[in-house]
Amino acid sequence: MVSYKDLGLVNTRDMFAKAIKGGYAIPAFNFNNMEQLQAIVQAAAETKSPVILQVSKGARQYANATLLRYMAEGAVEYAKELGWEHPQIVLHLDHGDSFELCKSCVDMGFSSVMIDGSHLPYDENVALTRKVVDYAHKYDVTVEGELGVLAGVEDDVKAEHHTYTRPEEVVDFVTKTGCDSLAISIGTSHGAYKFKPEQCHVDPATGRLVPPPLAFDVLEGVMKELPGFPIVLHGSSSVPQEEVDTINKYGGKLEAAIGIPEDELRKAASMAVCKINIDSDSRLAMTAAVRKVLAEHPGEFDPRKYLGPARDNMKKLYIHKIVNVLGSNGKAE
Ligand code: G3H
Ligand code: 13P
Ligand code: ZN
Repeated sequence: MVSYKDLGLVNTRDMFAKAIKGGYAIPAFNFNNMEQLQAIVQAAAETKSPVILQVSKGARQYANATLLRYMAEGAVEYAKELGWEHPQIVLHLDHGDSFELCKSCVDMGFSSVMIDGSHLPYDENVALTRKVVDYAHKYDVTVEGELGVLAGVEDDVKAEHHTYTRPEEVVDFVTKTGCDSLAISIGTSHGAYKFKPEQCHVDPATGRLVPPPLAFDVLEGVMKELPGFPIVLHGSSSVPQEEVDTINKYGGKLEAAIGIPEDELRKAASMAVCKINIDSDSRLAMTAAVRKVLAEHPGEFDPRKYLGPARDNMKKLYIHKIVNVLGSNGKAE
């Protein structure tokens, strides 16, 4: 049993309370490898932004659970080395799908876990979330639950349509489970293809496709039922078109990839949304840089020569999100 407190990590409780009061959101960036982690820590340290390092079940399988946990411990020390005196870093399990997985993360030094029972019948979601909360709270680890289903692929489950969160259920869910934050469904979804082109209209100024707005009425309904309660938005990548264009220019094939417009995320962050999950944008930034370097320098075979630019491109993206979208810069001096 390792306590996250001994690793210099923090849970989400104070972080979220301050974010809601301050009208900004904490970035939750997924990581699977060293370059992503370096870019996240550099971006957070430079902007003095609290940050959530997210690890999915797939990331644990890919990178090895033990190694990832030591990487997160290393991240705290690295942040200090970069001159961030009091780093506020959360190590969070993204989309935990069982009690055993959540327990394993709590036992290995995670400071926060998500138990995603959103695909289960309501009562089973409540019971599973309650079980995780009971265990995690013994160690002061915070828990994110989820109500409502995002369209697309989530936890290996594919949903054709969104099932928006029902505001009339949230008080009962939060009271019965004791969860510390709630992920809701208001029209975001995972991956780089969040909308079909036929759902969008063309912006005459840019010629780009503009998707339909998020269901802010559902968010407002949730906020009315649960005043001041921390809300989480998954599937919040914006799919930057310049990264998509670079990928396509250098041999990639991403057609009609469409994300969430940044002004919608800014609006959500100014409301009760205090954790915004971003993974796909980092994947796009990494892939764009790697493709460009390899296309322009076909003789290159030193991974540092293409992973270095990939890291720089991800860092630029993270800083942009922190400063221009979430507004969390300077909140962890
Ligand atoms: O919500 C899912 C995250 O983007 C993690 O994705 O399961 O492929 O690691 P993954
Ligand atoms: P994106 O695929 O939009 O980056 O969402 C990531 C996410 O929600 C991780 O839990
Ligand atoms: Zn997610």
